[in-house]
Amino acid sequence: MIRALLALALAALPLPALAAKAELPRIVTQNGRHALFVDGRPFLMLGVQANNSSNYPAMLPLVWPMVERVHANTLEIPVAWEQIEPAEGQFDFSYLDVLLKQAREHDTRLVLLWFGTWKNGSSTYVPEWVKQNPARFPQARTASGGYSSLSSFGKNTLNADRRAFVALMTYLRDHDPDNSVIMVQVENESGQWSLGRDYSPEATALFEGPVPAALVKGLGRTGGTWRQVFGKTAETAFSAWYTAQYIDAVAAAGKAVKPLPMYCNAALSDAFNAEPDPMGVPAGGPNWPVIPIWKAAAPHIDLVAPDIYAHDWKAYLAYLDHYARPDNPLMVPETGNALDQARFFWPALGKGSIGFSPFGFDGDDYTNYPLGAKTLDDATVEAFAANYRLFRPMARTWAKIAFENPIWGVAKGPDAADQSTVMGRWKATAIFEQWQFGEPDWTWLQRDPHPTKGQPVGGAVIAQIGPDEFLVAGANVRMRFSLAKAAPGERSQLLRVEQGSFDASGNWVMRNVWNGDQVDYGLNFTARPVMLRVRLGSVQ
Ligand code: DGJ
Repeated sequence: MIRALLALALAALPLPALAAKAELPRIVTQNGRHALFVDGRPFLMLGVQANNSSNYPAMLPLVWPMVERVHANTLEIPVAWEQIEPAEGQFDFSYLDVLLKQAREHDTRLVLLWFGTWKNGSSTYVPEWVKQNPARFPQARTASGGYSSLSSFGKNTLNADRRAFVALMTYLRDHDPDNSVIMVQVENESGQWSLGRDYSPEATALFEGPVPAALVKGLGRTGGTWRQVFGKTAETAFSAWYTAQYIDAVAAAGKAVKPLPMYCNAALSDAFNAEPDPMGVPAGGPNWPVIPIWKAAAPHIDLVAPDIYAHDWKAYLAYLDHYARPDNPLMVPETGNALDQARFFWPALGKGSIGFSPFGFDGDDYTNYPLGAKTLDDATVEAFAANYRLFRPMARTWAKIAFENPIWGVAKGPDAADQSTVMGRWKATAIFEQWQFGEPDWTWLQRDPHPTKGQPVGGAVIAQIGPDEFLVAGANVRMRFSLAKAAPGERSQLLRVEQGSFDASGNWVMRNVWNGDQVDYGLNFTARPVMLRVRLGSVQ
């Protein structure tokens, strides 16, 4: 009876309602700002990336507890070509069956990392039937006749990778109607070690020919040979163009099946040298000096993204700036998981990053020190978890605010110097290593140095949500607001400072009003990050 009623009720539903699928994730760009929309609304990816070999069902019990402990809302995890197509043409998605089911159970979104033709400038994740057949799947050649990873000129390789990737996207289309998977990374740190470019005869013939018209046009340059157009960086440019085209072909075919946002991550060279040593980084990948080439070559790639393992403050911020472009949404798909690297969450947010994801964050005790932490001890995990704990409940609201309003973020530098910015008529200043009470020039009051002195912690992000109104979140920092340009006799005032957060519907929920000691010496954030809503005014 109940079944019959249900059937009747279903029959009464208009067809589109039955067929309705969740809205696909997408990148939206507006007024020079970018957002990742998931289920039709902005989404801030608070991610962690699993270790390279955690992509098997038996490893997942080590992964989820860490995802939960750090309050991530997204897990980035590999799916390897060797794993889904162990024998040519025979696909096995049993890992994905388990992964998708468990992601839903853990209320966590996924970013799948396609370890196909390239992984860290090598080709170690291709199936054995590819590894073992260099005649069919050629490797790039070095200048001295040696071998590197698979060549981007290998048509069979492209066809085979593309077919596997299409199978993966078909699987997602058919088994992930709710889009647990919100993005796909196509290849991993693509490119080739030990060469500026592929020296195979086919590649050399192309290198000696003219730069393709599409690239010349894309860059707004005048045509010529690679050397004429790019000079010293000709080989780097050449490799970038052909690698990006290869990957674009893979992405385009995948998107034709399920058009999820797709991105490529980059191994980075020196943040301040636009003409890097080609031997120091895999040739061809979306390293920052070749972003414009990638943009011209790979229109199906929504963004290129930096894997930032720098500990150096200046370099870290420079990498963020390189990738935060009007034509490229910033996202940090990998960063070191060491304690000092956690504070870069703040400037990443402040530069509009759609996501942040420390690498190697699972319960497998393998570490990639010195890139990241020696060990994921409690203090290190907490350095990342504290930020995510604050932002996870309001991640969507923050993403919307960041998409629509001016934002700025800051991390403590090596000298702990003040850092400031001007937003409208207000100057915001971040000050570090201060106790919560008193001023640094109160020399008559004896005090110990602040416990964060010399420690690489501290940062904040602010959003200007009205001419005189700001959201401020931070940890281990003192924030001050002053008039950027006061009229004669004009004095600034803190009208109201509320601590609180946003509820699931995006409404601000006040916890308490900060006044007295809590505001007399600036807005002092302890090691436990909080969010403040600050209304300012001035009188004359
Ligand atoms: C960057 C790569 O993309 C990751 O897969 C990993 O190999 C790290 N380097 C190093 O741990």
